[in-house]
Amino acid sequence: MTENPHQTTLDTALTESGLEAVNWTFPDADTQYLTHGLHNYPARMVPQIPDRLLSYYLDEGVLEEGDVVYDPFSGSGTTAVEARRHDLNAEANDINPLAVLLTRAKSIPLDPEEVEAAQTTLLDGLKSRLADVESQYEAGEPIDVEEPAVRDGWFPEPQLTQLAVIRDRIDDLEREYDQALARFFRVALSHTTRKVSYQRNGEYKRYRLSEEDREDHDPDVYPIFEQKVRENVSMMKDYSRETSRDQQTQVHYADSREAADVEDDSVDIVITSPPYGDHGTTVAYGQFSQDPAIVSWGREYDEMREVDKTGLGGSNRVLEPLEEIEEWSEALSATLETLREKDGRSDDAMEFFRDYYAVMEQVKRVLKPGQPVAWVVANRTMSRVNIPTHLITQQLCEHLGFELTHMLPREIPNKTLPWENAPENQPGVKGDLMANENIVVMTAPEE
Ligand SMILES: C[S@@+](CC[C@H](N)C(=O)[O-])C[C@H]1O[C@@H](n2cnc3c(N)ncnc32)[C@H](O)[C@@H]1O
Repeated sequence: MTENPHQTTLDTALTESGLEAVNWTFPDADTQYLTHGLHNYPARMVPQIPDRLLSYYLDEGVLEEGDVVYDPFSGSGTTAVEARRHDLNAEANDINPLAVLLTRAKSIPLDPEEVEAAQTTLLDGLKSRLADVESQYEAGEPIDVEEPAVRDGWFPEPQLTQLAVIRDRIDDLEREYDQALARFFRVALSHTTRKVSYQRNGEYKRYRLSEEDREDHDPDVYPIFEQKVRENVSMMKDYSRETSRDQQTQVHYADSREAADVEDDSVDIVITSPPYGDHGTTVAYGQFSQDPAIVSWGREYDEMREVDKTGLGGSNRVLEPLEEIEEWSEALSATLETLREKDGRSDDAMEFFRDYYAVMEQVKRVLKPGQPVAWVVANRTMSRVNIPTHLITQQLCEHLGFELTHMLPREIPNKTLPWENAPENQPGVKGDLMANENIVVMTAPEE
């Protein structure tokens, strides 16, 4: 394993006293080191969590170099990056195309010299090309660029056209170099897209600036993009120097309720942070990703609209109801009872946990007997009822034959928006703060 200069807890504490000795809150830790800082993502996992878990299991001999780490809810790829840092193979699933892009871009190391050369090609003359677009726009001349298929009214002009010019340059780069390099630069374009759009800062749902603020919003595209490209290139060069090319990262654009691409008994450890409720009423990953994925990667609007419906508990119901899960978890049964008494959203809770249970079944199928799984879960509220997701996770997994080895509490130190649950589900309205998580560590049943 390569040394992580950002560690805040001594590894000796980890090996001598086990997982309980670690302060899993990691207050003041740098969570943006290496490629973790390439792109923002809602409810991103603190990278120190997979880092410490992998270090521990490698030291204990539960894992060895070349083993496979699987994350069924990959998001921006935190687990995959840490897997590669620890000389392990990574396998990841997500139903969000932007998550697939980010996981690949962040975790697959690139040749530092090639990245540098591609950066030069990409930025060469770009500033004056974007200035020309502005002049043409102001002169009312036609500009020969295909506009991205975003919704009307979400971008200023000529900035949207300028973003399209950058996208075309990255497409050229893909032809000249390869897909991996182009993907890496799409991440900087995705970041720029969010900054340039009328999306309100700090909101993960689609929430537009007021009309007055839109009139004042006149961002300069080139410096935003150039700065992000340079930052990302520097992070990637450091990551690539530290990371072995011997391992593989497999990222599937796939639903983890089926996990069709992951083979039986093929995984040595699972480290994952599931969504804490259906996307629509908690964190709308699809809404967050819509414009960035359309502009930077040419994804379709209709495809991006499906993301939040396909998330756990979403309206795309692919599984039959499974009432029995209520009997398999006392915590779930008590929660549903309280929600029913309050006339709350017990059906929604049931659908979410039914889907989550399907992922647990798949984890059991793919994980080798006796190997660990770590679920990093936050307890949300629904209809102002606290949902003890950590206990429900434990009990449903126990029903499948998993054994609990550690229940590791942590606080969420930077109280950013995704953890502020808005039960009324209105933009800008915040409800109870979700400041606690648990890492539920279990082992798969022996054969
Ligand atoms: C809490 S986020 C994961 C964040 C990630 N650990 C990181 O550090 O960026 C949960 C992820 O689960 C994904 N997801 C939700 N339902 C899914 C499903 N049925 N199959 C696969 N991924 C799903 C969401 O798109 C989202 O990216």
